Amino acid sequence: MPQDHYFMAEIGIDMQEIQRRMDFVGFDKNDIKKLSEMQDFAKQHGEQIVGAFYQHLLSFRETRLLLKNQGTIDRLMSSQKTYLSEIFRGRFDKHYFEQRLKTGAVHHRIGLKPKWYMEIYAFYENYISTLISEAYRHESDRGLSRDHALRKIFRIDMVLALEYYMYSNNLEMMAKLNHNTQAIDDFTRMLSHDLKEPLRGIEAFSSFLLEDYAKLLDQQGTRYLKFLKESGTRMKELIQDLLTLASITQKGPNLDQVDLNVLLEQVKHHLGFAIQQKQVVFSNHLPLPIVRCDALQVAEVFKNLISNAIKFNTSTPPRIDVTAYEEESCYRFSVKDNGIGIEPVYQEQVLRPFERLHHRGEYEGSGLGLAICKKVVEKAGGEIWLESEAGVGSTFYFTLPKNNRY
Ligand code: HEM
Repeated sequence: MPQDHYFMAEIGIDMQEIQRRMDFVGFDKNDIKKLSEMQDFAKQHGEQIVGAFYQHLLSFRETRLLLKNQGTIDRLMSSQKTYLSEIFRGRFDKHYFEQRLKTGAVHHRIGLKPKWYMEIYAFYENYISTLISEAYRHESDRGLSRDHALRKIFRIDMVLALEYYMYSNNLEMMAKLNHNTQAIDDFTRMLSHDLKEPLRGIEAFSSFLLEDYAKLLDQQGTRYLKFLKESGTRMKELIQDLLTLASITQKGPNLDQVDLNVLLEQVKHHLGFAIQQKQVVFSNHLPLPIVRCDALQVAEVFKNLISNAIKFNTSTPPRIDVTAYEEESCYRFSVKDNGIGIEPVYQEQVLRPFERLHHRGEYEGSGLGLAICKKVVEKAGGEIWLESEAGVGSTFYFTLPKNNRY
């Protein structure tokens, strides 16, 4: 572990937070004084306490297995002595608490399960408690208050180490998750590329058949062939969307200061045919902000939200309202429509891949559009959600952080 590693800063706690915790368990100046008055006690019983601690670890297979060699045992013994002497020195400063977090990091590294770490504290407390009551048998009140002081600081220490354990576990899980997502995306990309080739053949030859041999087919035959061609086109869209979805995880973002007004116009231009065909009316609350983001990916978000707002809309005219709100650390965008809306029970599922609420044929599309939006927004450190009322319309919201944390 590097010397300049700041564990507290890493998990986002400071001395103010530690003070709150000390207040909460009632560990105050009096307790610190009581502990520092026990230095003689510590000198007298230190070896014995650490010896008993070590014997306890030896008597259980799970903990014994971690004491692999003399070097490890020496480090364990000396760190226990240091720990006790720090407690009875009574200097509960930043260094002290950094050490407690480091303890969590070290135990996590050596593979000690947190349960053993926590449970050995019970042994420690009881063992030392018995020694204290013997040492202070003629002044039991003083003994009791010292015992309480020790239990309080033990509690704080134990929780700090545990928090670092949890933090390390989270990091590991995130790394595994990223690795798995990466593997799935690699596979998706490979599959999509391989599928493209035969698909091109299906599309091209069904077009040739329709163009050159339509006369030889009856009405039914022509209809089947059209279905075949349309299925090919839909599959091509699906593959393209799968590739887009996979590439969001794969590619590092291409960050730039992006004028979203320009970007929105480009998206509208791209969707020009559908917009004209359905005579969509836009009411943008311009100007939209300039945001540091990946232009291509954010364009995907607007493109999917707007094309859904057009597609799932039977009003005449369809109305779409794009608005941006500035918040403290992010911009919040909304895309509101007067479309068919989504029943409350389905509102969560629409953001998941392949969740279609409508039968294919009724509404075209791969069912991946909103999953792409979710992935882009979440990767940029934002959030996406929706409000909708069946028969009235939907509003999709998403945020993009001002300080992009990629
Ligand atoms: C009251 C509970 C415990 C406390 C306060 C504690 C504290 C510590 C501290 C401060 C260190 C030194 C960390 C550093 O390098 O800065 C350490 C190391 C170590 N602890 Fe613990 N510990 C506890 C429980 C346990 C248990 C239950 C085991 C089980 C085997 C254990 C095994 C070890 C080992 C093997 C090392 C040495 C690691 C190395 O340097 O290779 N500890 N402990």
